[in-house]
Amino acid sequence: MNISVVGTGYVGLVTGVSLAEIGHHVICIDIDEAKVEQMKQGISPIYEPGLDELMSRNIEAGRLTFTTNHKEGFHLADVIYIAVGTPEKVDGSANLVFIEQAARDIAKYIMKDIIVVTKSTVPVGTNDRILEIIEDNQIHNVQIDIVANPEFLREGSALMDSFNGDRIVIGANNVYEASIIEKINEPFGLPIYHTDIRSAELIKYASNAFLATKISFINEIAAICERVGANVEHVAKGMGMDKRIGGEFLNAGIGYGGSCFPKDTKALIQIAGNVAYDFELLKGVVNVNQKQRTLLVDKLNERFATLVDKRIAVLGLAFKPNTDDMREAASIIITERLIEKGAIVIAYDPVAMENARGILHADILYANSVQETLHDADAALVLTEWDEIRNADPTVFHSMKNPIVFDGRNCFSVDVMREGGVEYWSVGR
Ligand code: UDX
Repeated sequence: MNISVVGTGYVGLVTGVSLAEIGHHVICIDIDEAKVEQMKQGISPIYEPGLDELMSRNIEAGRLTFTTNHKEGFHLADVIYIAVGTPEKVDGSANLVFIEQAARDIAKYIMKDIIVVTKSTVPVGTNDRILEIIEDNQIHNVQIDIVANPEFLREGSALMDSFNGDRIVIGANNVYEASIIEKINEPFGLPIYHTDIRSAELIKYASNAFLATKISFINEIAAICERVGANVEHVAKGMGMDKRIGGEFLNAGIGYGGSCFPKDTKALIQIAGNVAYDFELLKGVVNVNQKQRTLLVDKLNERFATLVDKRIAVLGLAFKPNTDDMREAASIIITERLIEKGAIVIAYDPVAMENARGILHADILYANSVQETLHDADAALVLTEWDEIRNADPTVFHSMKNPIVFDGRNCFSVDVMREGGVEYWSVGR
């Protein structure tokens, strides 16, 4: 199959590379010339384990190319994947300008019958709108069909997820398009679930909202654990052994961040609101997450009479490990609050520091290692559970003024830290 992918952000690039890897001819289109040049050299613009290697292999095999030219990009395509961003608008709804632009570009350049597949996370009804835009603007009179095929990739394990995901969802209006997209995906060897377009659109939002709900739920249980003297890890373990609940996504901490959960939960509240339904439960999930992000600052405030001129070491800045992504990372609000309160903030992240410099408060200092960050600090905050951080020995904290650690990701054993002479505060334990 000849496949074009519009948009080479996280979803687009990983989709394009994975489809090339299973044998399709893929051309990825992006308007950013510098980025396209870089990708042609096999260098990924995003940090994702294994991606550079897979890109280079498929470029060399002649299955993967990149262009800024839509005409060239669509010329041979049997199927066009739309994988552009749907960022959050001020009111929480999804911004569809990039989707609409992609639809207009497709309309302008396609010259033969085509199936358009939407990978981007889009509100219910958007695929109908895409089809309408293409049909209204098409220059050549060709047949266009549309398929909703949401992705469920996690950053940091996106390739692993592409080849080992739990399901591939195909939402289509008729069996013909569905069977073509099924055939494209067959080599992945994953379970395929066929449904209608609107259900497929909603499956993506409902899945992300449900996972976010699990996280906010366990975070509230953690708050109760702290007050009644229980251990949230034990509670989560005991709950998760029930297959109906499942043990994953029950790690208490400083809440969820990233490019999907915060945006998709708010978008689903909007989608519901647009059809006069008040999604009360999900509003609660979002509020709990908001509170959760500043939990460590509240704990610091309780522990110290003032934070003025206190040297606070921040370990980990990315919204989760194995990514350099700072989008909606708890570190943004936490470091801002610390600076507001007069603290001196010194931060370290194994890969996200370059991105962080452009986003975080200008007064933040940066260190080159865990050791350097901790040196002479009054307190340490753990915000991202990188292996390099979670594998640290308690003795590393003894270079601080006093070894006082607030762990937002429950990285360390309470007993080991206590025996190691560290004053250790974690979440729900
Ligand atoms: C998520 C979904 O998992 C994926 O299916 C979807 O396609 C995109 O959104 P991602 O944002 O990459 O993927 O990260 P994920 O691993 O799901 O973590 C999201 C956030 O939740 C992180 O900030 C993480 O730290 C937090 N989290 C996750 C918890 O606080 N507790 C948990 O138990 C799990």
